[in-house]
Amino acid sequence: MNTHVWTVSPNQSAVQLKDHPAIREAAARLRAGELVAFPTETVYGLGADATNDAAVQAIFTAKGRPGDNPLIVHIGTRSQLVDIVTRIPPAAEKLIDRFWPGPLTLVFPSAGKVSTEVTAGLPTVAVRMPDHPVGMALLQTARCPIAAPSANRSGRPSPTEVKHVLDDLSGRISGAIDGGETGFGLESTVLDVTGDVPELLRPGGVTLEQLEQVLGTVKGPASLANGTSEQAPRSPGMKYRHYAPQGEMILVRGSGDEIVQRIQSLTDHYRAQGLKVGVLTTEEHQDDYDADVVIACGRRDNLPSIAHGLYRALRQFDEAGIEYILSETFPESGWGAPIMNRLRKAADGRIV
Ligand code: TXA
Ligand code: MG
Repeated sequence: MNTHVWTVSPNQSAVQLKDHPAIREAAARLRAGELVAFPTETVYGLGADATNDAAVQAIFTAKGRPGDNPLIVHIGTRSQLVDIVTRIPPAAEKLIDRFWPGPLTLVFPSAGKVSTEVTAGLPTVAVRMPDHPVGMALLQTARCPIAAPSANRSGRPSPTEVKHVLDDLSGRISGAIDGGETGFGLESTVLDVTGDVPELLRPGGVTLEQLEQVLGTVKGPASLANGTSEQAPRSPGMKYRHYAPQGEMILVRGSGDEIVQRIQSLTDHYRAQGLKVGVLTTEEHQDDYDADVVIACGRRDNLPSIAHGLYRALRQFDEAGIEYILSETFPESGWGAPIMNRLRKAADGRIV
């Protein structure tokens, strides 16, 4: 299959984007049951018509994704939500008013309107409205709800630019829209609003603290601290080793000079064994290490910059053939929570 790539600048008005020939063509392909990757404010998504069983099945095949891991449904208008769910709890109303369009996925009771492949047979459905001009133009032009996991091969870091999508899926999907680098750079927050107290299932682009400001109480972060916990996962995707670079990854605790010393001595240890070692660091410490590859993914005093650059950095270690990655760690609150969640998964829980 030849994967068509369209370039669409996000720096255009909504009206211009809706009339854009590439958006029309990509939307027509989605409606015809084909797979199209598109930019969102978090990461690139791999879209398919959520009401078309065969199209949704094709997502799992293209990604090599386990069938028991449900997909997020992306919508371009509020009225689409009313079709897909049986009930919009009051807490969800408040969150939608505050955070949509934006990086917050809400889990609702499903009305059974989307393919059972999307929900993996669950009685619930996860829905979000992305805050990206190109993604929104596509969703509003396609008019059908679009199921879209991150547009990577299963187990690889999520794509934050179209090159990552094509590295993983070229020849396996109908097309990809290049809208430049994504914004936040990690996936959306997933929050279950079906119970009495909303429950955080995945930390992401809307922080726990922001949710608490709107809702008061939110359940969940303790069980998320360790991404490899044994308990039955409420969000099935949480149980898989995700976001994995090809090299072994170890997270190193510590602050200031201490973290640098600990990472450098581990680096020396592994290099003495003939291994190719990379260090994942921040601009503040970039010049302090001696390793085969040193990558600063952002600034420690600006956690969103770390979120933005993390997945690209993990892919760069793979390209350099790095066998061991030693990574700095971050605070577990605010934007640090989604960063540490993804790092723990990439490291399969190894933290020293
Ligand atoms: O930022 C994002 O959310 C990106 C972009 C493309 O929108 N999408 C994304 O999709 O990260 P994916 O498939 O990689 O992650 C979906 C997550 C998984 O952890 C999955 O288990 C959870 O959402 N999920 C989906 N439906 C669910 C449901 N009904 N109940 C609980 N968790 C659900
Ligand atoms: Mg994913």
